[in-house]
Amino acid sequence: MNNILTIQNLKKVYHTMERETMAVKDFSMELKEGDFIAIVGPSGCGKSTILSILSGLEEKTEGEIFYGNQQIGYMLQTDALFDWLTILDNCLLGLKIKHELTDEKREYVISLLKKYGLGDFMDSYPNHLSGGMRQRVA
Ligand SMILES: Nc1ncnc2c1ncn2[C@@H]1O[C@H](COP(=O)(O)OP(=O)(O)OP(=O)(O)O)[C@@H](O)[C@H]1O
Ligand SMILES: [Mg+2]
Repeated sequence: MNNILTIQNLKKVYHTMERETMAVKDFSMELKEGDFIAIVGPSGCGKSTILSILSGLEEKTEGEIFYGNQQIGYMLQTDALFDWLTILDNCLLGLKIKHELTDEKREYVISLLKKYGLGDFMDSYPNHLSGGMRQRVA
């Protein structure tokens, strides 16, 4: 089985003070090299929950997830940029918090911003960018 990702019978129940919500019920899928998959369904059917579990932001309730040897990246539904930081500072924040920021890594981040057409906006603030630009920053 050379899958990048295999999900078997995934289940997620959220518990709050008011209620229990069955967000994902018996979800299975396989992802192979080169696959391009869209998970489609009505609002609230559990799409973001699946992605949050895959990226470790939420715990699963039941089921199995097998990861291949590839890294998983996740672009959130809302971009979560900090409005008071410039685009460059938003992009450097994770490295700064982990005390891993070096000149070399800073140059790499700048090269990525240029690659994604954001080179002229590094000193701008998020509310001056379009929705698509914000997502690329995220
Ligand atoms: N943190 C949470 N705590 C409690 N319930 C949650 C939480 N997050 C999501 N839910 C509930 O789980 C269900 C699935 O939500 P989810 O965000 O996964 O849906 P979605 O398919 O991504 O919807 P949309 O298309 O609107 O983004 C919904 O009923 C939602 O109310
Ligand atoms: Mg969603």
